[in-house]
Amino acid sequence: MVKVDRFIPQSIEKIKEQISGPAIIALSGGVDSSVCAVLAHRAIGELLYPIYIDTGLMRKGETQRIKEIFSDMNLQVVDGRERFLEALKGIDDPEIKRKAVGETFIRIFEEEARLLKAEFLIQGTIYPDRIESEGGIKSHHNVGGLPSVVDFRSIVEPLEDLYKDEVREVARALGLPHEISERMPFPGPGLSVRIVGEVTEEKVEAVREANAIVEAELLERFHPWQTFAAIVGKGTGVKGDQRVHGWIVAVRAVGSRDGMTAEAMELPWDVLRRIESRITGEISSVARVVYDLSPKPPATIEFE
Ligand code: XMP
Repeated sequence: MVKVDRFIPQSIEKIKEQISGPAIIALSGGVDSSVCAVLAHRAIGELLYPIYIDTGLMRKGETQRIKEIFSDMNLQVVDGRERFLEALKGIDDPEIKRKAVGETFIRIFEEEARLLKAEFLIQGTIYPDRIESEGGIKSHHNVGGLPSVVDFRSIVEPLEDLYKDEVREVARALGLPHEISERMPFPGPGLSVRIVGEVTEEKVEAVREANAIVEAELLERFHPWQTFAAIVGKGTGVKGDQRVHGWIVAVRAVGSRDGMTAEAMELPWDVLRRIESRITGEISSVARVVYDLSPKPPATIEFE
């Protein structure tokens, strides 16, 4: 386990040594990028420009919360919604999707970096991201999906040796709000990996609502390591007296230590029934809801 008392000053010192000019950081609002932003802000102050890109693939209400929480920094909010949808158009292969999102991300950062004359990129990559990418299990957008030509002077990854629970401990020690330090992981490619097949605006809206319902029903009461909803296909249903062809939404709630392995949570039946009735009742395009029982391995946590 990392010694937080030592890690914080050491990593601040290291960032000071590594960065000698304006730097940008991909602030997603997750615990990893938030901890990086605070460490970097303490190290280089006004030289840090955290950039929040509204990809259109974030959770409900995310943009507003980020603006509030990081209001004391030089936060840059970029509306990238159309560009991400355009980049994802027609793609249904999960790895190509991931790369499309990662590349669009990096391109936008590069544009912002040029505008800000930033030379350094800080990233919240953690140890399991590196291991899984090196092992070829899947390309995480912030490591394996990086385009080969990146014209930053260097990429700084202060958390590259930490596990998720260690990052949370650092977050608490830094005084970040509970909402951030205990926040469950959210994949870099956002809701795009929670849509099996092609990403469209309509599917993103449906899956965003479904995710909000699942979080509202499960987070506080059951403290899952991670929980979410994904659109996994289309199926027939009956709404009113009409047969409809609607989305199949899968609900996932897992326990885990660090995301490397996981097991499905045993949720009470009435809770699952309530989630089903809220999702099919509140999102008209959804025809059915299923609960995923698979552990990791053999499944992964996300569907793609
Ligand atoms: P999997 O689905 O591989 O996910 O079992 C393990 C953990 O990583 C998150 N995840 C990602 N995070 N970029 C990220 O930054 C990605 O491409 C990505 N894919 C999955 C996932 O949500 C889980 O917490």
